[in-house]
Amino acid sequence: MSCPGRDPSSEQLNNYKRNLKGEPVLLTANGAPVAEKKASLTVGPRGPMLLQDFVYLDEMSHFTRERVPERVVHAKGAGAFGYFEVTHDITKYCKAKVFSSIGKRTPIAIRFSTAGGESGSADTVRDPRGFAVKFYTEEGIWDLVGNNTPIFFIKDPLFFPSFVHTQKRNPATHLKDADMFWDFMSLRPETTHQIMFLFSDRGISDGYRYMHGYGSHTFKLVNSKNETVYCKFYHKTDQGIKNLSPEKAAELSASDPDYAIRDLYNAIAKKQYPSWTLYIQVMTNEQAKTFRWNPFDLTKIWPHEEYPEIPVGRLVLDRNPENYFADVEQAAFNPGNMIPGIEASPDKMLQGRIFAYGDTQRHRLGPNHLQLPVNCPFKAISAMHYQRDGHTPIYNHGGAPNYYPNSFSGPKECPAVRSPPFHLSGDVDRYDPVDEDDFGQPANFWKKILDEPARERLVQNMVGSLRNASVFIVERAVRNFARVDIDLAQRLTDGLRKCGIEINALGKSANL
Ligand code: HEM
Repeated sequence: MSCPGRDPSSEQLNNYKRNLKGEPVLLTANGAPVAEKKASLTVGPRGPMLLQDFVYLDEMSHFTRERVPERVVHAKGAGAFGYFEVTHDITKYCKAKVFSSIGKRTPIAIRFSTAGGESGSADTVRDPRGFAVKFYTEEGIWDLVGNNTPIFFIKDPLFFPSFVHTQKRNPATHLKDADMFWDFMSLRPETTHQIMFLFSDRGISDGYRYMHGYGSHTFKLVNSKNETVYCKFYHKTDQGIKNLSPEKAAELSASDPDYAIRDLYNAIAKKQYPSWTLYIQVMTNEQAKTFRWNPFDLTKIWPHEEYPEIPVGRLVLDRNPENYFADVEQAAFNPGNMIPGIEASPDKMLQGRIFAYGDTQRHRLGPNHLQLPVNCPFKAISAMHYQRDGHTPIYNHGGAPNYYPNSFSGPKECPAVRSPPFHLSGDVDRYDPVDEDDFGQPANFWKKILDEPARERLVQNMVGSLRNASVFIVERAVRNFARVDIDLAQRLTDGLRKCGIEINALGKSANL
């Protein structure tokens, strides 16, 4: 076991005590003082207990309701607060007030996470890392809910529940299952790009400070003249990229499973504030029509040589949560939370997410979760609407009219923020994009982005996972990787052979 010793996170309770003024009195939840908390109310010293023991009932009935459902994905995470500062003018692309002037600061919250594991799982597993940013702007909340990867496994949201199930537990054994994972991945070749990223060095980031974040989707930006462009968002770490070797990650999974949460908390407590530089890439509507790939396909990047990065600003995290449950567990990031000037593109995945997040959050946190302090649009000039009641409304709008239209000065529309109309046409159908190029960008990643040692490590990492799957699935997966590069397939075949697994992925024609 590693012994981290006393660090800022271990001093939290001592600090609390030091900073406390006065002696707090113990109360029941209804505010009545409690005379005795060390024993329940019993008939004689050996019991039984009495139903009138309100101190016990008050305590226990709240305790049995302490847990809300954990997030169905990205359940394990760390959060912090800070600010976003504009460093470059992008108003020619976007009218959102968050970008209105250089030097402008907007409060932010960020939650980082692993994706597949439960809330108690280890921080150092091979998994995409969530990178969710909440901007508290004067035009409402803008959530940019991304990952540390520019791409994703699938391109149609209809697959998302199945895709996630393959990384959760087998319903019979309650174990993670390599057959489930590789079966799905090999049947859907559009996963190849992200799989290669996942099994590369970047698959296990060293904590959360040393990784980039990506909005991943294509968004639409609108300027003050109502002209639009498409855009992608990037947060590049100012700390530099650092990853963990699989060996070190495995050791930490046992000795310090909360490694990434601890690292972030201690860095901020020691005033080593982590920061990221925000960039955008911009594509005009005309360019989008002729781009050689579908520009709304989440399994692909926009090449940086053609669509260069444009700097926008800086995100700084300088405040730890004061209460994890209130500040991080109850945080609700929703890709549907956009502000005037930032809109959805036709990306099907983004469209699918716009439904899923608010829906799960109404289940996880209740219909009034946007009124919780961490989620509420506190900088918006007037957070007024006609929603009322439901579980725990913190602000129920007093005596304001609860219907629209009305003659009693209820909140009115703001025509100035109207989105520019856009034209759509096409035959309604279910389009499985089987004819799109799933291997061109992975081939570029293999040949041009990775150097030779990184290629070798990727092969080792993949072999370590593939070896646990059934041979017919492994063969199908390796056949897909052969379409990326025959050398990759050859190396996988050789690596598997060294583990005692003989496959015949491509037959004689491929000289394997
Ligand atoms: C159709 C596709 C997707 C669906 C249906 C989906 C659904 C969900 C759901 C239901 C949650 C839990 C939210 C909560 O309980 O608050 C979640 C969390 C999350 N998802 Fe997705 N997701 C999708 C794709 C993606 C993609 C493409 C990314 C990254 C580019 C992503 C990043 C995240 C992150 C970072 C979180 C955690 C947010 C937090 O920290 O609270 N998801 N997703």
